Amino acid sequence: MPIYVLADSRSKLSAVSGMLGRAFEVRSDLLDAARFSHNDIDAVIVSADLRLIDNITALKAASDRLTRIPKRIFIIDQRSRLATVQAYALGATHAFVNPVKPAQLLAKLADIDAPSIVSDEPTNTAEEAASAGAASIATMFSAVISGEAIDVADARRAGGRIADSIAENGLSDWLTAVRRHHEGTYQHCLLVTGIAVDFGLSLGMAKTDIERLHSAAMFHDIGKARIPLAVLDKPGRLDEAERALIESHPIAGYDVLKSTPGISAEILDAARHHHEYLDGSGYPDGLCAGSISDLVRVLTISDIFAALIEQRTYKPTMPREKAYEILLDMKGKLERPLVAAFRDVALRR
Ligand SMILES: [Fe+2]
Ligand SMILES: [Fe+2]
Repeated sequence: MPIYVLADSRSKLSAVSGMLGRAFEVRSDLLDAARFSHNDIDAVIVSADLRLIDNITALKAASDRLTRIPKRIFIIDQRSRLATVQAYALGATHAFVNPVKPAQLLAKLADIDAPSIVSDEPTNTAEEAASAGAASIATMFSAVISGEAIDVADARRAGGRIADSIAENGLSDWLTAVRRHHEGTYQHCLLVTGIAVDFGLSLGMAKTDIERLHSAAMFHDIGKARIPLAVLDKPGRLDEAERALIESHPIAGYDVLKSTPGISAEILDAARHHHEYLDGSGYPDGLCAGSISDLVRVLTISDIFAALIEQRTYKPTMPREKAYEILLDMKGKLERPLVAAFRDVALRR
């Protein structure tokens, strides 16, 4: 199981190789001299300062080959939101901040599959669609953080790819691929998009309606780009101030998107209202049933289910059956017939 190491300095190359020890066959190159073929590599470890434009340019130039390697671990130099987002935008499946401990790195490499054949034919496996989706979401987050324009067309394309993957490979494959390779908010957004698409498919929605759904899902939590990671990814209970900060994300998302060309009123509505409940107990506007659109109702059910079955490092993953029971218990908050229709998606698809 060969592992490829790319770094922006010789000292980083040897630091990473040292951590890997003799457990792996390691090949390595400096970033500006990367000459690898993706075909026989199971994992790549990139250790580079992502504030340097030369490093970003070199990684972008190699991205076609890089993103065909199943596991892509980035080690970044500084704990900044932008650097982490940049790593995911460049195709990372995991990102660590230096100093990384050997045990962390080895744990991430522990579940590498037996060598698989990677073909040059264009394909759309769940893993490829998930990587493209994560990169697109990361790029959006990066744009929000740095005040640049959001690439709406790219997010729609990535959403379309996810929809194709769900139609071709099914929801279970999607859940497995996303939970295995992606973390935190990106994992969540990918899960919501896949679940919403599958819900739409199970309801017999037309292609154009599925497109409306995956667009809304891709953008729904973009306001989280404004929330510090320490709060967003905090394990365990949040205090009142932290909860208030988290609950500011629908309005933050709405504010970001309202001046973005190409964003429909429906996507704006979904970003702002996906935490509203039919009985008026949701946030931020305390809307009641009559003011909550059908699309948002579908999205909200998908969002809650996705949040429940997320894979987190600090807690066991909730089984789909248990998550569906929780939805059934949310009496008065979600549309009952829709929750009943969701049973198939939750348990069987
Ligand atoms: Fe949300
Ligand atoms: Fe969400």
